[in-house]
This record gives sequence, C-alpha cells and structure tokens, in this order.
Amino acid sequence: MKKAIPSKGSLKGFKISKIVKETVQSFNPMMLLKNITKEDLEKNLDYGELVQTLKKAFQKEYIVPPRHHHNYQNPKVGTDSTLLLMPAWQVGKYLGVKMVTVSPKNGEKGLPSIYGIYTLFDAEKGFPLAQIDAPTLTNQRTAATSALASTFLSKKNSKKLLMIGTGSLAPELIKAHTTVRPIEEVMIWGRNFKKAKALKKHFKNASFKIKAIETIQEGIKKADIISCATLSPEPLVFGKNLKAGQHLDLVGAYQPTTREADDKAIQKSSVFVDTYEGAKESGDILIPIQNGILKEKDIRADLFELCRGEKKGRKNAKEITCFKSVGHALEDLAAAKLIYEKMK
Ligand SMILES: NC(=O)c1ccc[n+]([C@@H]2O[C@H](COP(=O)([O-])OP(=O)(O)OC[C@H]3O[C@@H](n4cnc5c(N)ncnc54)[C@H](O)[C@@H]3O)[C@@H](O)[C@H]2O)c1
Repeated sequence: MKKAIPSKGSLKGFKISKIVKETVQSFNPMMLLKNITKEDLEKNLDYGELVQTLKKAFQKEYIVPPRHHHNYQNPKVGTDSTLLLMPAWQVGKYLGVKMVTVSPKNGEKGLPSIYGIYTLFDAEKGFPLAQIDAPTLTNQRTAATSALASTFLSKKNSKKLLMIGTGSLAPELIKAHTTVRPIEEVMIWGRNFKKAKALKKHFKNASFKIKAIETIQEGIKKADIISCATLSPEPLVFGKNLKAGQHLDLVGAYQPTTREADDKAIQKSSVFVDTYEGAKESGDILIPIQNGILKEKDIRADLFELCRGEKKGRKNAKEITCFKSVGHALEDLAAAKLIYEKMK
C-alpha cells in the first residue's frame, strides 16, 4: 500500500519541534528491550573475538565500584541465600549490573545453585537495552579471561592442556584455552571419572585429542597448561609435581579459606592476578600471604598492567607461571556489550 504523504498545507499550524517533542515523550524504551538467552550467547560465541574484546576493555577506563554481597534469610531451607550485585560502567556509553542469587541448598532439589540476569543500559540516556542470561555470560567471560591471561603467561607452543574439574566452566575453559594456543591434547580429570568422560561429547569434531584421566598427577606430568575450576576447599595441585615452563590457571576458589593449589605451588610460580583487590578474596592468594610464602609486592602483575603493556608476562621458557582469577564486573560489561552490539 502506498504511504499517504501529508500535503504541505496540512502541516500548517504544527510546529516541527512540537511533533518531535511528543514523539520523544511517547517513546517507551521497554518496547526495545532485548532478551538475550543462553542459546543466543552460545550461537554468537567466538572465543578469539571475546578474548580481544576483554583485552581492549582492560586497556580502557571502566568504572567498577565494589560489588554488593547481601546474605538473606531462606527459612524454608534453613540456610541463608546470597544476593550479589555487580555494577560497572563506561562513561557516556554503557552501564551494566549483574544480579545473581546463590541458593546453596538448591542442589538437593536438582536445581543449579546460581541464577541471575545481566541488565545492560545506555549510560547516556539511561535506557535499559538488554536482559542477558547471566550464568552463560559469566562462564564465557571467565573462560575468555583465563585464555587472555594465557596469551601473556603460557608458552606460545603449549601443546597439552590438563582440565581439572568437570562443572559448567570446564567445557568453556577448554574451548577458550585451545583457541589461543596450538593445543593437540586435552586431559580431563574430575572426582567422578564418568563425568570426565562425558565432557568429551562437547568436542566431537575438535582438532585436538581429548581423554579422561584417573589421576591429577598423570596429567600434571605431561601438561603445558593446567586449568583448575572446582569447588574444592583443599589444594588439588601440589607444587612438588609442577615442572619448569608450566602455566597454572586457577579459576575456582573464591573464599578466603578455600584453595586449589598448595603453598609450594605458589612458591615455585611467578604469580599474576586478574585484579589485586579481588584475588586477595581467595585462599589461593590469601593463605600463602598469611603463611609468609607470598608477599603482596611479589605478585608480578594484574590483567590491567599486562594488557596495557606496563608489565611483562612470562620471561623465559623455564618459568612456572600462575594466574589466579575471581572475576571482575568489567569482564561482564565487555562481554555484554559485545553480544548486544552483535544482536541489536
Ligand atoms: N574466577 C572466576 O571469574 C569465576 C567465575 C565463575 C565461577 N568461578 C568458580 O569456579 C568454580 C567452578 O565453577 P562451575 O560453574 O564449573 O561449578 P560447578 O558447580 O558446575 O562445578 C564444580 C566442579 O567442582 C568439582 N568439585 C567440587 N568439590 C570438589 C572437591 N572437593 N574436589 C574436587 N573437585 C570438586 C565438582 O565435581 C565439579 O566438577 C566455582 O568455585 C565457581 O565459584 C570462578
């Protein structure tokens, strides 16, 4: 159908500014709010691109206030739940908040313990732009952050990866690490051998060999890169087993009393962190500091310094490097902005 074009005469008496003002006032940004699902994130994922996006984000000025951590009563299950709020913004561009609940007893009902939403806003006008599946966004940005650190810290010709842990992060960490290094073999260790074997199904057409192994030690003997993402409260990686040239990626422990590597592992390694303040929340860094094994001034660099070229990563082929992350809201915002711009 042909659109009716109003004749010049019919606009007489109207002020253009009035028309514009009324149009702007009736605009409802909620009509444009995008819902970005787990499937959308998976379909659009390119780890090479996400790693580069995070690198640029660590070079820019983002504002990241401390995250809010509120415990709240959950009388029906008898254990408190937690609400985490993680805001970040880039002045005049985007603002985002991750809202996550942790309900530790959910496992008993066969439910995941973490649910959440990421809301992305236009920082200039304040419009909400998108609601994004937060667990998937978190897994992807966490894996990409480990891979980004690996580009500075692992040997360029790293061929063998050991994955410790078989949870939701494990397949993402394997995908991200194998994107940035020429990995030919992946070994997976988990408490449950069947789960370690089951992880192989994610990699049917992969360019690398992949197998489940029975002990961590047999993996450490061969690995160039060891990535650890578990909820273990006790060390799983022991320094006495580490060899020259290895890179250790510690993702899991996020509480002051839990850790995935022992004192000796930290003592033998050059230690790097995602952020100085965040890493001290984890026993992997805090316990060696308390034991006098590690001094804060001995932490070689954070990701801001590595990405901005202010400090160097691996210095030679023999050095053992260790990267400890606990996650940062900047990573969420950078990943959210990337998926939103692809889908808008
Ligand atoms: N660094 C970050 O930015 C970041 C981001 C998200 C999650 N995390 C942390 O990474 C860890 C893994 O996350 P996920 O989503 O894969 O969790 P998940 O619950 O899906 O999997 C946890 C894994 O830990 C294993 N595990 C638990 N207790 C263990 C023990 N005592 N010994 C050996 N293995 C044990 C489980 O078998 C499972 O394989 C969690 O601690 C999570 O909080 C870190």
